[in-house]
Amino acid sequence: MIRQKAAESRLREFALTILPQEIIRKKRDGAALEPAEIEAFVHGLVAGSVTHAQVAAFAMAVYFRGMDMGERIALTRAMTRSGIVLDWRGLGLPGPVLDKHSTGGVGDNVSLMLGPIVAACGGYVPMISGRGLGHTGGTLDKLDSIPGYATQPDLDLFRKVVKEAGVAIIGQTADLAPADKTVYAIRDVTATVESIALITASILSKKLAAGLQALVMDVKTGSGAFMPTLEDSRELARSIATVATGAGLPTVALITAKDQPLASAAGNAVEVRNAVEFLTGARRDARLREVTLSLCAEMLVLGGLADGIREARAKVEYALDSGAATEHFSRMVASLGGPADFVERHERYLKVAPIAVPAFANEAGRVAEINTRAVGLAVVALGGGRTRPQDAVDHAVGLTELAELGDEVGGDRPIGFVHARSEEAAKTAAEALAAAYRIGEGHAPLPPVLERIAGA
Ligand code: URA
Repeated sequence: MIRQKAAESRLREFALTILPQEIIRKKRDGAALEPAEIEAFVHGLVAGSVTHAQVAAFAMAVYFRGMDMGERIALTRAMTRSGIVLDWRGLGLPGPVLDKHSTGGVGDNVSLMLGPIVAACGGYVPMISGRGLGHTGGTLDKLDSIPGYATQPDLDLFRKVVKEAGVAIIGQTADLAPADKTVYAIRDVTATVESIALITASILSKKLAAGLQALVMDVKTGSGAFMPTLEDSRELARSIATVATGAGLPTVALITAKDQPLASAAGNAVEVRNAVEFLTGARRDARLREVTLSLCAEMLVLGGLADGIREARAKVEYALDSGAATEHFSRMVASLGGPADFVERHERYLKVAPIAVPAFANEAGRVAEINTRAVGLAVVALGGGRTRPQDAVDHAVGLTELAELGDEVGGDRPIGFVHARSEEAAKTAAEALAAAYRIGEGHAPLPPVLERIAGA
């Protein structure tokens, strides 16, 4: 089931004959590294013969000099092989193993619906998700608001739930791509996060280690996105799609808008409630629906579950409207330790903050611009995210009924509701929200899905 990728003795010998500082020097001077050099460096960092200072220097050299696609593929492969690589073949699954990854949104609960929808269409989704990062929300923090739901099950339970429910959304395990864990922590404190080559290898090494057959990437663009300009987002999307496909993982990237929160809710329990309402049809925010169904349709086509986007779209809509996706969601929640009647009685299970107040814009008029990052930070300040890795998250707090670009606000129409622990926190968040919303004349909102980029 699990193939332990032991370093070959050839690699070990090679790693001893080539000095890490020579690899760093070569990259520093702008030359392309050989795959064997990259492998030796990654092997050395896992084995401890390459120091953290050398990793930092390497990351900075890559930040300034970049890497060509061949180098990125070699780095991705080496980091993938630094730990275990899941292999689903032994389970005899009757459908493809698929996943989606996003570069991080605000009010972005797509995964909670996408996994069950794709499972209802015959795919298998072993989704390994993260916690909130900076101003962006994390799927794991949202799932932690479901009582009993195990976000860190052992691998046997993970496999069992994927097989039986078609989807399991869990947290990162220490065994998958451990080289990335080390490199990421060093990048985080050495101003080397924003390198397209390093982001590509970091994301894809974890996805390849999860043993997928195909991947769909949701690359955000707009205020608060990792890559705020469309040109940068395109470059990241192209890099990920090309490197993934080159490393044997067929991938399509959609560039989606982050010029406003995606759902009308932002937080943890409030986003889970929004997801349940989406699945059951009680409420479906239009842009959220478009992004979710577009990503699902791409996954079906990549996985051979539909012949084209039209057919795939019809299938995912049926999976949603027939209630089949809701059933898969319920099964996943119950199998991972959550309540069996979670969907039916989610109001009873999800925590509610003691204070709920409307937040009003500074003036009446049309919403012209939203600082999405500031909206995300307002959730963090309420306690719904972290300012330090060890912080606990308050699952009950957040924002709901958020106005969209183009909506009329003012008078008795707030820009949203704040759910807080205290009156004071509610007031601060309401002020932050008012400051994040500019009222007046503005550009038309971006379409929810801007572009599609397939791996070459
Ligand atoms: N997410 C990752 O997993 N890695 C990065 O480098 C950036 C975002």
